[in-house]
Amino acid sequence: MSPQQSKFRESALASKLVTEDQLQSAISLVMDSPKGRQAHPNEISDKRLASKLVEMKIISAYQADQLRSGRSKLTLGPYVITDWIGQGGMGQVFKAVHQMLGRECAVKVLPLHKTTPDAIENFRREIRAQAKLDHPNLVRAYDAGEDGNVHYLVVEYVEGTDLRRLVRTNGRLSVQQAANIVKQAADGLAHAHERSLIHRDIKPGNILVNPNGIAKLSDLGLAFYLNDPKDPRVGKIVGTADYLSPEQIKTPLQITSASDIYSLGCTLYYAVTGKVPFPGGTPKTKALRHLEETPWHPRRFNEEVSDDFVDLIGDMMEKDPKQRIRQAEEVAERLAPWAEDSTAVYPVDFDSRQRWTPGPVHETDEQATDPNLDASGVSSSDDDGSRGSQANMQATNGLSDQSTDHSSIYKSSNKPPPPLSTIEQYSSAKRLNDDYQFGMTELVITGLVCLIVGIVAGVLLAFLSS
Ligand SMILES: Nc1ncnc2c1ncn2[C@@H]1O[C@H](COP(=O)(O)OP(=O)(O)O)[C@@H](O)[C@H]1O
Ligand SMILES: [Mg+2]
Repeated sequence: MSPQQSKFRESALASKLVTEDQLQSAISLVMDSPKGRQAHPNEISDKRLASKLVEMKIISAYQADQLRSGRSKLTLGPYVITDWIGQGGMGQVFKAVHQMLGRECAVKVLPLHKTTPDAIENFRREIRAQAKLDHPNLVRAYDAGEDGNVHYLVVEYVEGTDLRRLVRTNGRLSVQQAANIVKQAADGLAHAHERSLIHRDIKPGNILVNPNGIAKLSDLGLAFYLNDPKDPRVGKIVGTADYLSPEQIKTPLQITSASDIYSLGCTLYYAVTGKVPFPGGTPKTKALRHLEETPWHPRRFNEEVSDDFVDLIGDMMEKDPKQRIRQAEEVAERLAPWAEDSTAVYPVDFDSRQRWTPGPVHETDEQATDPNLDASGVSSSDDDGSRGSQANMQATNGLSDQSTDHSSIYKSSNKPPPPLSTIEQYSSAKRLNDDYQFGMTELVITGLVCLIVGIVAGVLLAFLSS
């Protein structure tokens, strides 16, 4: 038996996911199969043995991969990790099962640099506050714990997808679909706001949508925990800047629930247009544009958007919180007429929908306005890294007990080249509320043309009269 083969068997037993008896039955089943007839038990490859154990539903495919790479600790406290869900701004997310209760859940592993005693205390406070919430449109917080130096949060597992992935897979949503999802998020948000909890990180990636079309807001209050003023990274925008309210940029420590309404407005804009309000550029330029600029008129990307719907997005995205819609209930009420058909979210016709609405100006625009792209890299924008992260799980979460190359577990990075700057293009673009207005550029050009015509006419007249 090669050392590689014994490693899997050792890890499988050490992990306690597989008993000696189960291993022996798997070996016997492989040997009984037509291909395994002549083989000696020790000649059975790890790959075949692991596949057999997966087929017997003793371990998951993810666990098989981990055990084959020599990892034997696949638990966090009482939770057994069964799958890797993704990498987000906060850390890695795993699917897990409680050993005793058998309940499926999502486990969020906190970044190691966030595990100072103060930060942990803040985190616990947030979790306790979250645990009091009970609403069908809020992801439930179940538990929080630590295992060695790894701190984790356990929340309700939501099968399906999130709004960001939904849009990235199918293109922009119909007004009805978007209204339906965002209305549910607004209902959940109203419940949290009534209990004085501000979400602080509303974005499409934090609206999970299950196969029945139920939308649930996730990560409530976690941004507060993550934005510890003592954090050395403070002042830098961690995560995406695409949905930040002007007041989160100007006075991040004094925000109110109105800030969530702005972010939800940006999310609604993204859902119906397939674009973030201010695409391209760095987090800093995006932040500036939230303060100073207005985004493209949504109808440029989706003709279906009516004036009333545009007004609603505009009212949610008002830069001055005093002018903005203040209550999440009002958002839900105003969305209700479009959100009536609750079956509108699924099924989405995957094939017939185009990925993106053709770009409004020139051919680089599709790339430049693609929210997946950002000149400044992973942490800067609407990019959760879950597609391409080569994150080293051992370094970030301490789950591993042996060093492993995880590059094979994660899909390879496929990030296209950064877009050209779009600032110039947008500075002369028509805006959300002035779609058909005669802009400054047009005024200057017309003035110049008149001047040139005047000069030519003058010269001609002088020439003719002489
Ligand atoms: N409770 C959950 N159930 C199922 N999937 C989840 C859950 N929470 C997050 N995810 C998924 O895990 C990935 C990372 O999520 P998260 O860490 O919250 O990232 P983000 O920084 O985008 O909020 C995303 O693909 C998200 O859809
Ligand atoms: Mg999230």
